[in-house]
This record gives sequence, C-alpha cells and structure tokens, in this order.
Amino acid sequence: MSHLDHTPSTPGKFKMDKSAYPYHGGRLRWHSSLAKLTFWSFVFIGIIFIFFYRSPSSVSSSSSSSSATTTTSSSSRFHSDPSRRSLRTSSWGGPAWEKKVQTSARIRSRNGFSVLVTGAAGFVGTHVSAALKRRGDGVLGLDNFNDYYDPTLKRARQELLERSGVFIVEGDINDAALLKKLFQVVPFTHVMHLAAQAGVRYAMQNPSSYVHSNVAGFVSLLEVCKEATSQPAIVWASSSSVYGLNTKVPFSEKDKTDQPASLYAATKKAGEEIAHTYNHIYGLSLTGLRFFTVYGPWGRPDMAYFFFTKDILNGKSIPIFEGENHGTVARDFTYIDDIVKGCLGALDTAQKSTGSGGKKKGPAQLRVFNLGNTSPVPVTNLVTILERILKVKAKRNVMKLPRNGDVQFTHANISLAHRELGYKPTTDLQAGLKKFVRWYLNYYSPAGKKADAR
Ligand SMILES: *[C@@H]1O[C@H](CO)[C@@H](O)[C@H](O)[C@H]1NC(C)=O
Repeated sequence: MSHLDHTPSTPGKFKMDKSAYPYHGGRLRWHSSLAKLTFWSFVFIGIIFIFFYRSPSSVSSSSSSSSATTTTSSSSRFHSDPSRRSLRTSSWGGPAWEKKVQTSARIRSRNGFSVLVTGAAGFVGTHVSAALKRRGDGVLGLDNFNDYYDPTLKRARQELLERSGVFIVEGDINDAALLKKLFQVVPFTHVMHLAAQAGVRYAMQNPSSYVHSNVAGFVSLLEVCKEATSQPAIVWASSSSVYGLNTKVPFSEKDKTDQPASLYAATKKAGEEIAHTYNHIYGLSLTGLRFFTVYGPWGRPDMAYFFFTKDILNGKSIPIFEGENHGTVARDFTYIDDIVKGCLGALDTAQKSTGSGGKKKGPAQLRVFNLGNTSPVPVTNLVTILERILKVKAKRNVMKLPRNGDVQFTHANISLAHRELGYKPTTDLQAGLKKFVRWYLNYYSPAGKKADAR
C-alpha cells in the first residue's frame, strides 16, 4: 500500500548517494565515477530487494505505533520521523506465529464465524472478543497497544483474552502488509472493527492521530477486505458523537449528521461516508454502530465515570460541567454487556459481502444503528450514584461546559436496532456502575490499597 512506497530506505538512499559523490567527484575520471555510481546503485537496489522480499514484515509492521485501539502521540512522532520505524523489529510472521493465528481464529461451533477483531485490547474489543470466543466463534485480535491511556490496562485485558484462547496480534491497521498476511492465513468471514482513536478533547492535542486511525486506518482495512477472494462482512464502531449539535431528541439514524462538534466526531462521520463508498464500489457488507457513552468493568480511564471514581476515592475534586443557564449535561450511558449484545446482533444479521478480489458482483448491505440505553442521565446524578456506591462524598467543582467538543446531551432512539438486531438494553446506570466499581476496586486495590489508576 501507499506507505510501503515511502517507508523504509529512503533516508538510506540519500545518504548513500550523497556519500558516493563528494569523495569521488572531480578527481576521478568520468567513467570511473560512473562505474562507482552504477556499483552503488546496484548495491542500493540489492538492499531494497532484500528489505522487501526477504522480510516484508519488518518493513511495515514496524509502523505499528498507532491505531489498533486508539492512536497516540507516538503516531505523530512516527510521521515526523519515518526512519524510526525501520529501527523496530518485526513482531509477526513465521510458522509458529501463523499457527497461533490459525488456532485462535478456528471456528468451534456449527455455523460459527471467524472474526478479526481490531482494537481487541480496547474496552469494547476485549468484551466482544471474549463473548464471540465463548459461543464458539473463531477470534483473532489485532491491537497496537498505544499509550493514549495506560497500556498496562490493555495488557491486562490481553492476558484475560489469552486465557480464553484469543490471540492478539500486535500491529497497526495502517499496516497493509500485515493485514494482507492475516487474510492469507485466515479467510475471515467477519471483521469487527473497533480500533480507533477515541476521546473528544484529545483531538486538540493530537489531531493527526484521529485522521491516522479513524480515516486512514479504516481505509487501509477496507482496502484489504475488498481485495479478499471471499470478502468479509464488516461491523465497525461509529459514534453517537456524529449527532453533534443536533437538538432534536431522541437521536434517530435518519436524522442529518452534518454538524460534528469535534474532530473525533468528524472522523467518525467520515468513516460512515467511506463505508458508503466501499459498499457502493466493491460490494462490501458494512454495518456502523453508533455507540452511546459505553461504560463498565475494564473501561477506559479517560472517561468521566472512570476518573470520577478514582478522584472521589482520592479525595480530589471533580469537574462537573453544566450548559448555558445552568443547563443539565446528560449522557445516554450504555452498559458494556448491552453493547456486546448489540455487536453480536449486528454480526449475526450481517449479510455476506457480494464482491471478490476487488470486483463488485451485486448490491450489498449497508447499515447504521444507534446502540444506546434510551435514558439520558444528568452527570450530577452519575456522581450521586457513585457517592452512594463508594460511600464517599465527592468534591464537586461545577463549571461551564467548554466548547471544545463535548455536546450537552445525548439520547438514542434504538427502535431500529431493536427491530433489526433484537437489541434491548437491560442494565440501568445504578446496576452497571455497581459492577464497574466492584471491578475497579478489585483491579486497582485488591488488598485495599490506595487506588492507583491513571
Ligand atoms: C425512532 O426511530 C424510528 C425509526 O427507526 C421512528 O419510526 C420513530 O418515530 C422514532 N421515534 C422517536 C420518538 O423519534
């Protein structure tokens, strides 16, 4: 793919050419320097050949500093200094590795799927992978373990998955060579694409990571999927944030979504349009899921319910945002187990892609669903519930909602997902937070020590 073109040895090339000239410049006879130049050109071409054909994996898997679950500052580092990539060593390839990939993706139930789960060490990715494995589907994970948030949490999730037989390949969705290899080793029937750069406010610090993961990474994945002889059906994570500044509630899939309030939202919206294109041109079956504020055990530390818990336990004050004129800020919090059921429902009802080897053979399915809880809860109520569960009073610091990406209100209309996927959330915020807090205390301070979340 394109990054192969500019990846590995360009810096080396320049060094070699430059050093070939000054030493032998005017002092030697013309044909001698031409001979030298020819010699060095052959050496250089030889090096390129060795690089590409002997170890394709080390060329491109080394780009893995970004987007399997999320992308971080490392991706911008990697853009500004591409030579760093070739210093990394390959972490994939070889017969033993292929065996692990195949074993993990092996279907163990009748009519089961083999699913590639991107962002498998992420919050939703871990839960979906575990659920698929439990019911007998083959599951292979892919994640780049970037440090957008504490990677030790991702490693702990990985351990959890490995114990249930899910192998996570460490790599990036922008790594076309790796993706191609995975599809050569396993003819995946489905892709559950959850790798993304998440977070709304972080986009102001590291905008390129959103483009890298949510736009370029998605395209890279779709390119490989459309080329497959037997194209997989793809279910992927969009976001409720695409509703942006909409004021009509509840949010329905038919509503216009052309007023994103953050770059994150804009890249997710772009993903929906890109999905349309690949469905239209190549016959890929694509289902986008607009998640509404997913929470629960093994959740993301950058989310409010998570760091509120940490800060309340540490006696730190927590910021509580309010809208204009003391308006309520509310979220349609959705418990992870309900989201997992929605994801599985989407996979189970996904029709086959119709194309093959990059050629469309007929029209294919294209869907978008809200996955929410249909009961928005004011953030102040979230804090009250946490106080009750933790038995600690929170230090509330009420402040204006900054205009940097967060919207004031989300509320999902889920009747479409109910009808088409059988989606029916059953966990209210109180019950879900209890489960979260139980996990949190056990994970961070099993012996009653001070919590040490990031
Ligand atoms: C929810 O969405 C469905 C279409 O999926 C629509 O028929 C219904 O009117 C919507 N409900 C509300 C309250 O907006």
